[in-house]
Amino acid sequence: MVLVVQGTSEDTGISGRLAKLLGAELVRIESKRFPDGESYVRIPVDPSGREVVVVQTMDEPRDKRILELALITDALKEAGASRVSGVVPYLAYMRQDRVFRQGEPISIRAVLRMLHAAGLDALLVVEPHKPEELQYFPGTHGYISPMNLLARHVSKLVHNPLVLSPDLGGIRRARMFAESLGADFDYLEKKRDRVTGEVTVKPKNLDAEGRDVVIVDDIISTGGTMALAARVLRKQGARRVIAVCVHALLVGGALDKLLAAGISRVVAANTLPTPPAVDVVDVSPLIASGLKDLAGPA
Ligand code: R5P
Repeated sequence: MVLVVQGTSEDTGISGRLAKLLGAELVRIESKRFPDGESYVRIPVDPSGREVVVVQTMDEPRDKRILELALITDALKEAGASRVSGVVPYLAYMRQDRVFRQGEPISIRAVLRMLHAAGLDALLVVEPHKPEELQYFPGTHGYISPMNLLARHVSKLVHNPLVLSPDLGGIRRARMFAESLGADFDYLEKKRDRVTGEVTVKPKNLDAEGRDVVIVDDIISTGGTMALAARVLRKQGARRVIAVCVHALLVGGALDKLLAAGISRVVAANTLPTPPAVDVVDVSPLIASGLKDLAGPA
């Protein structure tokens, strides 16, 4: 019987539902912090000869979550697990997938190589920033995209919707979302200053007058991108603006920033813990089928 291990990250409901859907045993990792800040983990059952799925999202502190996933993997392999698959609903460092300024690392490559070196055989993530970057994981890897699920949720909230990506890089997501919603879609031309992080948007006329605009992105971090896009849309006559993302990092006062920009609702997947004001869509069923695809035909 497959063993599902809930890692050290906060439980967003995925591990329990996943274990049910897979007909697997569920255990929670034992963990603590030593007085000097080092992490301690322990598997509370004998995993020898078993297939193990570790659910570990990268909520805060993110760097610790990466390291703790490596420690959990090492512990499982040490105790004789036959195969360890990591379900990482939110994979951190996905946005540093190339050298933007000379002297920078390809952070996502370093993270994925490290996890593989720790013994992780397979990796499944939800909505990577760019799917190609998963190639840096030397083992079996895959991803699921919850755009259809999110669109199904949003379809109950909107009238005459227009779907918008805040930048050209996110157009694949906006297209999938719009097709599922039966709506048209467009994009803005966003630029981010690589040193200050400041975001600007090139002016563009959109067919937004009197419509419910749904802005779709993979991540809301500071909320700067969504807030800026929402302001542009409100100026162009949008009736309502809804912000949809997969990973609601919502750092600092991001939620307040979104509300102040006129966003009436924020919708996200349960890849990270979210405040109660966010509408949450459960992605566990997609993860369960993604894991089956990763394992190949029985
Ligand atoms: C960037 O390329 C991502 O797709 C998001 O647009 C970005 O991470 C959002 O960040 P923030 O909420 O801080 O503007």
